[in-house]
Amino acid sequence: MAAPPARFTVTLLLFVMMVVSGSVWVAESAIGVNWGTIQLHRLKPSTVVDLLKENKIQKVKLFDADPQVLRALMRSGIEVMVGIPNEMLAMLSSSTAVADLWVRQNVTAYIGKGGVNIRYVAVGNEPFLTSYSGQFQSYVVPALLNVQQSLAKANLAGYVKLVVPCNADAYESDVPSQGAFRPELTQIMTQLVSFLNSNGSPFVVNIYPFLSLYGNSDFPQDYAFFEGSTHPVIDGPNTYYNAFDGNFDTLVAALSKIGYGQMPIVIGEVGWPTDGAFGANLTAARVFNQGLINHVLSNKGTPLRPGIPPMDIYLFSLLDEEAKDILPGNFERHWGIFSFDGQAKYALDLGLGNRRLKNAKNVQYLPARWCVANPSTDLSSVVNHMKLACNIADCTTLSYGGSCNGIGAKGNISYAFNSYYQLQMQDAQSCDFDGLGMVTFIDPSIGDCRFLVGVTDTSSSSAFGLYQRWVIIWVWIFVWFFRM
Ligand SMILES: *[C@@H]1O[C@H](CO)[C@@H](O)[C@H](O)[C@H]1NC(C)=O
Ligand SMILES: *[C@@H]1O[C@H](CO)[C@@H](O)[C@H](O)[C@H]1NC(C)=O
Ligand SMILES: *[C@@H]1O[C@H](CO)[C@@H](O)[C@H](O)[C@H]1NC(C)=O
Repeated sequence: MAAPPARFTVTLLLFVMMVVSGSVWVAESAIGVNWGTIQLHRLKPSTVVDLLKENKIQKVKLFDADPQVLRALMRSGIEVMVGIPNEMLAMLSSSTAVADLWVRQNVTAYIGKGGVNIRYVAVGNEPFLTSYSGQFQSYVVPALLNVQQSLAKANLAGYVKLVVPCNADAYESDVPSQGAFRPELTQIMTQLVSFLNSNGSPFVVNIYPFLSLYGNSDFPQDYAFFEGSTHPVIDGPNTYYNAFDGNFDTLVAALSKIGYGQMPIVIGEVGWPTDGAFGANLTAARVFNQGLINHVLSNKGTPLRPGIPPMDIYLFSLLDEEAKDILPGNFERHWGIFSFDGQAKYALDLGLGNRRLKNAKNVQYLPARWCVANPSTDLSSVVNHMKLACNIADCTTLSYGGSCNGIGAKGNISYAFNSYYQLQMQDAQSCDFDGLGMVTFIDPSIGDCRFLVGVTDTSSSSAFGLYQRWVIIWVWIFVWFFRM
């Protein structure tokens, strides 16, 4: 009769150890990030992976399966969602051989000891977006079934889950409890959700209170944030004080309506931009993201799912992407919690152990010099040069509401010249502009308007450099040895 108490003590000890180490089974959301790479200035992927590690970020969502990015994620242990672009859905839906090849090249090749911890494949990205006018929607479920079959053949179907990140415009309603999928999507959504359910996959949705605010002048500003609202939404017995919860419960209601009210939900994208439009600024982004994280980590849940927060949340985004299409608005290039060079834009506690964001280390910048308009420039002759520069480089911070709006006509020109010059890796000729530009060593940044200095991209050569160094060392040893 001495054994049970001892065993009990051991169990208790184990339990205490698990609680202390935080690995207890309480359903808690995890905070991850989206890592998009539509950039003009790209940090080395290994620098970005170090940035993730420094900030204790354990989950990352990608939009494709870039080999350089995946190679950098090897042995990091970070959970990865790779993505299949919408343009590939038609092919994948029509051919199991194409699906097999995709899985082999972009999943199987990386999985295993010392590899990449791929846990999800996103089949398409917001394929039901209204602005796509239905061009991808019929391919989604057939592509999903083919990729699933390929995963099963590779014995990965239990480990790697398929998901389809949907935009919140897939469902609609005035009040959350009446949420329903768009009528033309009901059938596809029913098939999709039934597949996800049988496969143990979550429903992935992207929610953007910023876009509601940006696109609608009647939208009450405080309803976009998490600090209470003077315009709450009353829905029967439930009251909503923030757009995020309201949107989330609209989805819960839509899922209930097709018979899957219990389906786990992951937030695939959520965030706030910091530049390029009114309302897109550092303060608003910090307040929104911190409010969101605190709200989710409080495990309060929502009126339709009390005590059940979303499974995971992927912030949009890790880094700014200055080459993104600005059709949605000039803010589109400024969603990062870090600027393009991995520097934190504001203090943010991700709830992962650090109290604030830590900057990327060992970023290699070009020399500290800028290209500006020559003081003697005749402004009238410069308009075309400026247009050309801005077509290629990023000038969205100059727009109304942007951090560089209001730096004057000459400031505009200098900003455009510099953005182009940095993009051309500070090539001397790229600052000529028919004699209208000149290089300066004095930082022309004014107030919040930052004139950037580019980073040197050595992503493709670094591994080679290491290899070269090894070869040189061995050659030396060889020479030294045979000299005797
Ligand atoms: C693997 O993914 C990459 C990046 O998304 C893509 O370019 C490539 O075509 C994919 N491989 C196959 C076999 O489809
Ligand atoms: C920042 O954006 C918020 C709303 O998103 C707005 O209320 C505020 O005035 C903006 N601040 C500045 C300095 O523009
Ligand atoms: C600078 O450029 C921005 C964006 O094109 C424009 O809104 C602003 O009026 C310009 N400023 C001057 C003084 O021309």
